[in-house]
Amino acid sequence: MDGWTEQLVTCAEFERSEPGAARNPGHHERLSDMSAAQTSPPTRWEQQVVGEKWDFYANRFEKMIADGTDLEGEARLVDALAPRQAAVLDGGCGTGRITAALQRMGHRAIGVDKDAGLIDIAKQRYLGVPYLNRDLLLLDGDVLTAVGAPAEFDIIVLPGNVMVYLAPGTEREVLRVLTGLLKPAGRLIAGFATDRDYSPASFLADADALDLQVEHQFGTWDLRPFENASDWTVAVLRRPDPDGQEQAPAATRWTPASQWHSDPEQHL
Ligand SMILES: C[S@@+](CC[C@H](N)C(=O)[O-])C[C@H]1O[C@@H](n2cnc3c(N)ncnc32)[C@H](O)[C@@H]1O
Repeated sequence: MDGWTEQLVTCAEFERSEPGAARNPGHHERLSDMSAAQTSPPTRWEQQVVGEKWDFYANRFEKMIADGTDLEGEARLVDALAPRQAAVLDGGCGTGRITAALQRMGHRAIGVDKDAGLIDIAKQRYLGVPYLNRDLLLLDGDVLTAVGAPAEFDIIVLPGNVMVYLAPGTEREVLRVLTGLLKPAGRLIAGFATDRDYSPASFLADADALDLQVEHQFGTWDLRPFENASDWTVAVLRRPDPDGQEQAPAATRWTPASQWHSDPEQHL
């Protein structure tokens, strides 16, 4: 098991533990200041990850960074699928690790999360990387352009169980909002545990209702197969391209040698 896969297991172990009883007043004061918290339903994250449990989650990344744990596996998959210098939205970015990795890989990435405390950590840890404290339900092109971000995206990524921590019953609406922020043929990639209230089957039904095409379903971010017993799923959905013009970038296509002409660089 590589360090990154190990991290996912650690994350799953954490998330399966019972919510801590103690509250973190600082965290909740920050949340009560947020207009987003006042105008949108509480997420499962806000309901379940409070007090000591929130502190544990927030602090563990510092230790993993210090230990040299690989925290960027999800970003590598996004990078493989994305055009160069792609516009990428990291939805439910938490402490910002994937946004920062994507930015470093040359993409125009922005991280968005409803948890003001986690966004504070992200901004302090990854200076110069754009993060926005906002409920995904309340996101639109105007909000994004007002902070200098793209209004539409090549890829929207939801790593680390975001789908199963949304407010109950809002999952399809969040997907609808995010689909509206995808370019034609843009992709939405989500990874989450299969043993929660919101199941992979519900996710695929919501995708179908929104006309999102299921391109792939893996069992891990390093592309192991999805099976009935998989405890994790990574789904790659694509927004239809009405003009049907989308095709793989030239660098990923191969011209048969029989069709090469005197300027082989054009075909290589
Ligand atoms: C397990 S954390 C994952 C964080 C990050 N994606 C990562 O993998 O490091 C789940 C995140 O989803 C966020 N979240 C849940 N519902 C949300 C919503 N409606 N809008 C924005 N963020 C949301 C939570 O605030 C939390 O930070």
